[in-house]
Amino acid sequence: MAHAAVQYFLSLFFFLFFLSPNVVSSIGVMLNPYNPSCASKPPASATPISSSDVDLLQFALNLEHTECDFFLYGALGCGLDAIAPELAMGGPPPIGARKANLDETTRLIIEEFGYQEVGHLRAIKNTVGGFPRPQLDLSAENFAKIMDDAFGYHLNPPFDPYNNTINYLLASYAIPYMGLVAYVGANPNINGFVSKRLLAGLLAVEAGQDAIIRAKLYERMHEFVPPYQITVAEFTNRISSLRNRLANCGIKDKGLLVPHELGAEGRISTNILSANRDSLGHRRTPAEVLRVVYGTGSERQPGGFLPKGGNGKIARELLVDH
Ligand SMILES: *[C@@H]1O[C@H](CO)[C@@H](O)[C@H](O)[C@H]1NC(C)=O
Repeated sequence: MAHAAVQYFLSLFFFLFFLSPNVVSSIGVMLNPYNPSCASKPPASATPISSSDVDLLQFALNLEHTECDFFLYGALGCGLDAIAPELAMGGPPPIGARKANLDETTRLIIEEFGYQEVGHLRAIKNTVGGFPRPQLDLSAENFAKIMDDAFGYHLNPPFDPYNNTINYLLASYAIPYMGLVAYVGANPNINGFVSKRLLAGLLAVEAGQDAIIRAKLYERMHEFVPPYQITVAEFTNRISSLRNRLANCGIKDKGLLVPHELGAEGRISTNILSANRDSLGHRRTPAEVLRVVYGTGSERQPGGFLPKGGNGKIARELLVDH
């Protein structure tokens, strides 16, 4: 009798439980955490996150924060502090960010990119922890200085990233690509399967953002950027050359028009994506990335987008190293 009652309650319990599709799938996951129909099984010996992964993944927060506030402000006129203030973790508001004059199609793309960066910040901080948003300089003056450095003379009037769609896209050209090359660079040094999953997911979307920005610029590459007598293609080439010069590790960055021998398979001079001899993404170390985003050519001398330096162990140690 008692046995029958237990059976009855058990079957009622399972019946109610299985009514909810969410419960069904979570029970499936409980019974078989690596359900082969949904996800590949990690190697038996793998650790989820190895301790050396933490600093490398956290380093990316410096770039993700820069992109996040640049895109959100550009599209909406407000940033992370309005959308997900807890992710700023008390870091100071960015200097000089503002809404850009964008056509509506571009504005929506940039708004989406901004939200994607919020997701990236959350994913990184939830997976490996994080640090407060560093001080960011997203002012027109900072971008104007980068463009002056790229051209080797003073652009008159000074370049204003927020003035129109083409300027904003050129300014954006400067950012997700650094995330892309940093993620490709971090990949060989990442060990845990959870860390790898995070890294690949971040890389995929950064690469997509970079491709979309480049494609939009590519369509207009022969246009002059008003009021300068300089084409869109030349702007991209100058920005890429500047970054190669600052990073000081060869050619890992190429604009939209390249000498034939630098194009894909040495057979083409248009260059919608930037990649190496085998058309694989270039990789950069954290030190290379910092030399570029500081705009100083030195990982020990902050400036540019990060006037007080990057946050986290890697950037902080490089500041005082040597
Ligand atoms: C601002 O944008 C307008 C419209 O594209 C353009 O005519 C003007 O020259 C631009 N000025 C600057 C400083 O970029």
